[in-house]
Amino acid sequence: MRKVTTLPVIPKLTPNVTDVASFARAAEESGADAVSLVNTFLAMAIDVDTRRPKLSNMLGGLSGPAIRPIAVRMVWECFNAVKIPIIGMGGIVDAADAIEFMLAGSTAVQIGTANFADPFVWNKVLAGLRDYLTRHGVSDVTSLVGQIDTSPRKEVHA
Ligand SMILES: Cc1cc2nc3c(=O)[nH]c(=O)nc-3n(C[C@H](O)[C@H](O)[C@H](O)COP(=O)(O)O)c2cc1C
Repeated sequence: MRKVTTLPVIPKLTPNVTDVASFARAAEESGADAVSLVNTFLAMAIDVDTRRPKLSNMLGGLSGPAIRPIAVRMVWECFNAVKIPIIGMGGIVDAADAIEFMLAGSTAVQIGTANFADPFVWNKVLAGLRDYLTRHGVSDVTSLVGQIDTSPRKEVHA
């Protein structure tokens, strides 16, 4: 794609792989401007009464809050593997979810499934993000990117 366009190229990475960071690295080496992840997880469900697959195609893409911890992990793995920006997504429904993705290394976030429950969810996330920045005295939202605190936990004495 890089060879045929000067437009920004942002590959969307599937989570249905063992090592997502290697795909982010391949994208970066091939000239991608950013990567976006994760896409949906290949999934399957069966109606136990009829014993029939719940989806006519048998398999479908799982999204929403159930996938969030796996998506956050994958963003963090990619953040440690590439220098290009990461657009993170997977189960974001509120500001804390969005901030979690940013701390794991997302420069931007995307909301998919939550829009089906509330088309104005972005508004709630934005307000919550502003509130978080105020409460934590953070003036520049980009300063959150990749800033997970991995220092040893302090012991708590009673
Ligand atoms: C109904 C639906 C349609 C989707 N269509 C696409 C698509 O066309 N291309 C794509 O890259 N991802 C598509 N996705 C994946 C989402 O963009 C997103 O990566 C994924 O659902 C995880 O985010 P979420 O939990 O916020 O939905 C779709 C997701 C859903 C639920």
